[in-house]
Amino acid sequence: MRIILLGPPGAGKGTQAQFISKEYDIPQISTGDMLRAAIKEGTELGKKAEGIMKSGGLVSDDLIINLVKERIEKPDCANGCIFDGFPRTIPQAEALIEAGVDIDHVVEISVPDDEIVSRLSGRRQHPGSGRVYHLKYNPPKQEGLDDVTGEELIQRDDDKEETVRDRLATYHEQTSTLVGFYQNKAKEDANAPKYHQFDGTKDIEVVKQNILSALKG
Ligand code: AP5
Ligand code: ZN
Repeated sequence: MRIILLGPPGAGKGTQAQFISKEYDIPQISTGDMLRAAIKEGTELGKKAEGIMKSGGLVSDDLIINLVKERIEKPDCANGCIFDGFPRTIPQAEALIEAGVDIDHVVEISVPDDEIVSRLSGRRQHPGSGRVYHLKYNPPKQEGLDDVTGEELIQRDDDKEETVRDRLATYHEQTSTLVGFYQNKAKEDANAPKYHQFDGTKDIEVVKQNILSALKG
């Protein structure tokens, strides 16, 4: 099973990816998490990505496509994977098609911009695993600590309001075009990925049930 999660920053892609990953025992491939790990490790990729991510822009298609191609070669992707935050541009989507990666479902989670700005101010993340929490909507069992490892949670550098607004603008300018791209493919071709859209303003648990039942189809 291969799934693409599509939606603006803060829509809940990472949150829902973790549920789908457990349900189907397939890995979550978050290009954002991979880039943050590269920054932490101080790799060449991390150095190139850091400033771009702080400004809310997109890292170049070439770098991202190579990163994803390498990742999907790993053995844990043999039975499928969940793409979280990839593709984000038409060239990235076309690179997947050219590489012969068959996608079963595209899952769009939509949330209006204003709700996203307030949502992201309350996000906390466990950097090691990518697990996400929210101070109000999904608090950790112990304040400031990851439920599984007990390690400290962090606030992402790009979650301050100004950067969130820039990331939203980038989404509307460069990524939202993928909605029409995949919707049209689903209409035109029976073998294209199935397209599903979900209201991401509902409770986390409700969104989860809606997505899982749609995937079971
Ligand atoms: P990335 O890490 O992918 O960030 P993003 O797309 O902006 O998405 P987020 O991770 O912010 O949100 P999410 O949808 O995962 O929401 P979450 O589940 O955490 O990318 C970061 C940067 O890396 C980009 O800006 C770009 O520079 C670069 N990059 C990454 N991929 C790239 C690519 N392919 N090409 C080029 N550049 C790339 O939830 C958010 C919060 O809300 C959490 O606190 C959560 O608990 C809470 N929440 C979730 N669902 C609900 C709900 N239903 N109700 C209430 N609260 C909820
Ligand atoms: Zn995410």
